Amino acid sequence: EPAHVLDARGRPLGQLRISVTDRCNLRCQYCMPEEEYNWLSRAALLTFDEYARLAGVFVGLGVAKVRLTGGEPLLRQGLPELVRALADLPGVADLALTTNGVLLRRHAAALRAAGLDRLTVSLDTLRADRFRALARRGGHDAVIDGIRAAAEAGFTGTKIDTVVMRGTNEDELAALIGFGRAAGAEVRFIEYMDVGGATHWRQDLVVGRAAMLAALTSAFGPVTELPKHDRAPADRFALPDGTVFGIISSTTEPFCATCDRSRLTADGTWYRCLYATSGTDLRGPLRDGASTAELAGIVTRIWGERADRGAVDRLGQRDRVPFVSLQTLKDDPR
Ligand code: GTP
Ligand code: 5AD
Ligand code: SF4
Repeated sequence: EPAHVLDARGRPLGQLRISVTDRCNLRCQYCMPEEEYNWLSRAALLTFDEYARLAGVFVGLGVAKVRLTGGEPLLRQGLPELVRALADLPGVADLALTTNGVLLRRHAAALRAAGLDRLTVSLDTLRADRFRALARRGGHDAVIDGIRAAAEAGFTGTKIDTVVMRGTNEDELAALIGFGRAAGAEVRFIEYMDVGGATHWRQDLVVGRAAMLAALTSAFGPVTELPKHDRAPADRFALPDGTVFGIISSTTEPFCATCDRSRLTADGTWYRCLYATSGTDLRGPLRDGASTAELAGIVTRIWGERADRGAVDRLGQRDRVPFVSLQTLKDDPR
């Protein structure tokens, strides 16, 4: 059992999120601006061996949950090989992947065979016209089909993540729950956050947890709150028929106090918080031949200095303007 590495607020080094590419085949309004970026060059990207080395360092320090992300991770050539390398690391108890689902049909079986444990698929709307407006690209049919393909490939415990935005999809919560139930996937509604690429974020576009619960209660009847999983961002609920869903209230009720997550970008920069504006370069020392012990020393020291609580700080900055309240939502004809 590796000793826990604690940050300056006593939070352990826990789940690691690994980005395998900065590119994406969609341009969701809440995530990326339409303009082309300076994408990372091939030489800048970590190789699979480098990911495995770095992941090994984190696992050696107690990290047991790893999630692959992007951009869109399925755009990274040969991804199942990386999945295999990470799944084979002793100590990785849970290996998951977050995808927009567009390419999932093509890759689901290979990912499963390579040892991927779980999938989370982003799905914000059941309407193709809305998808096109929100994602600024086509692909809605492929996402719906991808969710089916995941089940066919043998994945269980798939989750569907829905970012709820006022005036965009807040009228689809009940329909999305119905879809998830039919697909055998737990739906999680995520409050719109003003992170990174959310260049159009506005406070009045946030639909808070209370408003979501009110809408679902009026659609389905009384909702029961379930015990929360340890350090999970989602609060979980059950409908009267037993269907379980989640709400991730990272904007109105941040979970920074228990946050054990860190993120490794595709160029090997390690961030201690989703809202952090700078990170630690791990690729440099890795390519300069640092030993595993030396890399572990860097991670331990930097984590030890971590005091970040980005979402809580954002909340403070917005304190004087109230969030969309239950009352406002009721009064609003939309
Ligand atoms: P599992 O428990 O592994 O299934 O996943 P999870 O519930 O931890 O969810 P995941 O890591 O996929 O995150 C779901 C959503 O929560 C993300 O898409 C974000 O919107 C939000 N989120 C995740 N991590 C953070 C974080 O560190 N800070 C904040 N503020 N929000 C986060
Ligand atoms: N607000 C909330 N969640 C976001 N995501 C990305 N940008 C935002 C944002 N501004 C999350 C969503 C999406 C996943 C890829 O990242 O869960 O499905
Ligand atoms: Fe963790 Fe930072 Fe997100 Fe807060 S904002 S939950 S500290 S990553």
